[in-house]
Amino acid sequence: MSERYAKITGWGKYIPANVLTNHDLAQMVDTSDEWITTRTGIKERRIRTENDTTSSMSVAASLDALAVAGLTPQDLDLIIVCTSSPDYLLPSVASQVQDMLGATCGAFSLVAGCSGWVYGLATASQFITSGAYNRILVVGVEIISFAMDFTDRTTCVLFGDAAAATVVEASAEPGGLLSFELGSDGSGAQYLYVPDGGSKAPISPETLTERRQYLRMNGPEVFKFAVRTLASSMKRAIYQAGLTPDDIDLFIPHQANARIIESAARQMRVPVDKFFMNIDRYGNTSAASVPLALVEAIEEGRLKDGDTVAMCAFGAGLTWASVVMKMGTGEISAAHSLFSAGRARYLARRTSDAMLDAAQSAMLPLYTFLYQRRKKKK
Ligand code: ACO
Repeated sequence: MSERYAKITGWGKYIPANVLTNHDLAQMVDTSDEWITTRTGIKERRIRTENDTTSSMSVAASLDALAVAGLTPQDLDLIIVCTSSPDYLLPSVASQVQDMLGATCGAFSLVAGCSGWVYGLATASQFITSGAYNRILVVGVEIISFAMDFTDRTTCVLFGDAAAATVVEASAEPGGLLSFELGSDGSGAQYLYVPDGGSKAPISPETLTERRQYLRMNGPEVFKFAVRTLASSMKRAIYQAGLTPDDIDLFIPHQANARIIESAARQMRVPVDKFFMNIDRYGNTSAASVPLALVEAIEEGRLKDGDTVAMCAFGAGLTWASVVMKMGTGEISAAHSLFSAGRARYLARRTSDAMLDAAQSAMLPLYTFLYQRRKKKK
């Protein structure tokens, strides 16, 4: 059998419209914009609207990813939805996504906390390199706000909702996934967990009184684990790919805390500006965090055809996962001009946003004049 490589050929995102700023949170709990910004790097995060569900957000991101890949849902061989916040405990949200997309392939959900999508990417690559499948959709999605206790300042300031999707395709040209590492240390489960609502402790009146249906976290322990893991896991994956940190064009770390990322950059002796960050706008979106950063890095032109990227996530479990990938789609890209298509979409959107902003600014004096005239008349 000829060699097969697993490449990302499509990407898309869905960001809920509700913006929750640090100033908004300061009205809800005893915190401040200054504390959140300096301790985490987060300025705002998105919270689902009443119309957003984990399945609907997955579908929106997936349709974009399929469009970039030039595929239809019927072309898919498998769907993997990585999340800890499915619509229902049963059925798997992946089957809802398959149905809503109109795809006719197998589908399963993957739970590995914030590491979910990186686990999913490594899993999809195995189906592809083994020759079992050619086209796989891997979604990272989270409505983590449903598990947030908005009276607990130690957790509610950190997280946000989002979805991002990627299409992984088989290619005969070398590249794509070069190496990966998957890790788990279940002895740290209690550092980040939702105590009630599972089969061990179903929801009861006590659950609600004690607010045990919400996420609990030992921040300092998770912080130490993350600082230990991020640099070391990425380094192992990089060496496994036969590379050194200097060979990496862009690092995409889990967006949990800017201080964790800065510490990893120091440990790896890599300038921090080689680490992509969008944490200021979204906070920690759990399983959506790394794919969302990947999508935005491509859209912003930070990742180009031929670049090598190292990605790493860590989270509940405790789990962690790293991958090293050579971007670009080889002979597939010749067919779809994918990187230029993704970039063109981004530039078109940015131009239309800028035009809208400019139009609104230009109209502002007129609105102000009309408003003042109306007020005078009253
Ligand atoms: N606003 C104001 N004060 C706060 C807040 C807040 N939002 N949260 C905590 N504090 C207070 C604490 O109560 C404490 O006060 P005390 O000294 O009077 O007891 C003080 O700030 C310091 O608390 P620490 O927890 O030591 O603060 P730290 O500098 O460690 O920052 C943080 C806390 C941001 C949570 C940090 O520990 C962290 O980022 N941990 C990792 C979190 C993480 O990555 N989680 C997710 C990973 S896995 C996943 O993504 C699901």
